[in-house]
Amino acid sequence: MHAPASLSLVVVNGQPFALPQSTLASATLLHVLRNDLSLNGPKYGCGLGQCGACTVLVDGIAARACVIPAQGVAGREVTTLEGLPGRCSCTAGLHPVQQAFVDEQAAQCGYCLSGMVMMAVALLERNPDPDEAAVRRELSGNLCRCGTHVEIIRAVLRAAVLMREAQA
Ligand code: FES
Repeated sequence: MHAPASLSLVVVNGQPFALPQSTLASATLLHVLRNDLSLNGPKYGCGLGQCGACTVLVDGIAARACVIPAQGVAGREVTTLEGLPGRCSCTAGLHPVQQAFVDEQAAQCGYCLSGMVMMAVALLERNPDPDEAAVRRELSGNLCRCGTHVEIIRAVLRAAVLMREAQA
């Protein structure tokens, strides 16, 4: 798909979107995802790159959408929570990380959850068999004010098992 000169192409969850360059030039990626594309998985927490609630994947790498200028992702692939089902060819429904978070009941208020899940997906795509220390390190920059960390860590370790089993 080619975009006219005044538009830029952004691929989100496998779908191309032609967005006005004026929009991309003046907004963060989080703003565009939530306000222009109605993708409300990524959350606005601190707006300063410090809490992780807004985490998405850019070309498969976890990134904080609240501090990324939207024009920085023109021509790149962005994945949000909404795009996870289908990202892992190992299951038909929920992504195994989402399933594991459900199985372990790893949520209270749920505000941090999208960011936690996206960080976990990035980790497990890089390292399919992390130990608990690696999971703790990966998630150390994502804040959960409810204190659900124990269940979240259990969920990530469970997701690793689910993904390895499904791909065996
Ligand atoms: Fe982006 Fe807090 S909202 S890191």
